[in-house]
Amino acid sequence: MATYQLKVNGKSQTVEASEDTPLLWILRDHLDLVGTKFGCGIAQCGACTVHLDGNAVRSCSLPIASVQNQEITTIEGLSEDGSHPVQKAWKAVDVPQCGYCQAGQIMTASAFLEKNPAPTEEEIKNAMHGNICRCASYNRIYKAVEMAAE
Ligand code: FES
Repeated sequence: MATYQLKVNGKSQTVEASEDTPLLWILRDHLDLVGTKFGCGIAQCGACTVHLDGNAVRSCSLPIASVQNQEITTIEGLSEDGSHPVQKAWKAVDVPQCGYCQAGQIMTASAFLEKNPAPTEEEIKNAMHGNICRCASYNRIYKAVEMAAE
């Protein structure tokens, strides 16, 4: 066990954990930020996506020891009231079906649009390609990302 200093959603957090504990479990079990979901645990599905210094990363495969002093943003920190353009577009398009993968989808989409605010349809599909949705809400996801970019 060791002590780690994290910056999560703009707040400093001190956490005791073993060095190989994945960030996902720190967020969920230590900080009670349960919007970030566990899907596969092997960086394949995207359900656990958060931002690390603005980049979309898979928190299930990032040990706590590797994320100190970087800005971590979870779905809870994207906006206080669901007013982020991607969240608004998600609501307008009514994207979710079961909802489980949606936080990861939104975090991937928001990091992508930050870097590419006017993407083509193909760029949107490529950017979202690694986030799996078992309900296959892909067409609504693409539409919402397109809407958020406008
Ligand atoms: Fe992390 Fe699937 S739970 S990518």
